[in-house]
Amino acid sequence: MPIQPIRLFGDPVLVTPAAEVVDFDKELRRLVADLTETMIDAPGAGLAAPQIGVPLRVFVWDIDDNLGHLINPSLDLSDELQDGEEGCLSFPDLRYDTPRAFSVVAKGWNMHGEPVVLEGSELMARALQHETDHLDGILFIDRLDSASRKLAMKEIRESEWFGLAKEYGTTPEIRISPHNPFGKSL
Ligand code: CO
Repeated sequence: MPIQPIRLFGDPVLVTPAAEVVDFDKELRRLVADLTETMIDAPGAGLAAPQIGVPLRVFVWDIDDNLGHLINPSLDLSDELQDGEEGCLSFPDLRYDTPRAFSVVAKGWNMHGEPVVLEGSELMARALQHETDHLDGILFIDRLDSASRKLAMKEIRESEWFGLAKEYGTTPEIRISPHNPFGKSL
């Protein structure tokens, strides 16, 4: 169950919609284990399969001592919204205020093919939305208004890691420390 390199913004896999999981087999359980181990190592609060280069609809989270995974998710979003900072492991050291629904009901499957229904609010809801977006090839900067997105893109272009995704494919050694103390990325 090796730790996988995390793909950085600029890698095409991050903007490509992922495929539904069809086989709930040993390989899927290995993917969930790899995602979990990679997220904990980062450390992060959530990680989606495309972020380790696997274009399948699977993600994991580690929030408030609650470690979990979800496969082929669909979300019902509350009308109530929340504001707050959000980061992404594919955008090292960058965080932006990102509007999200305050709470969600997520439906999907666990790695054994059993149906799962989850309810989450605040950070858990934010993580479920962020990770489900990853499976649709949507990144958190896409959720910013155009002025904020423009500022974010400027900062991204000036970051140490920008361009490395294209140059090397992956950059596991570029992990920048210390991590932001205000919260882990997703
Ligand atoms: Co992310």
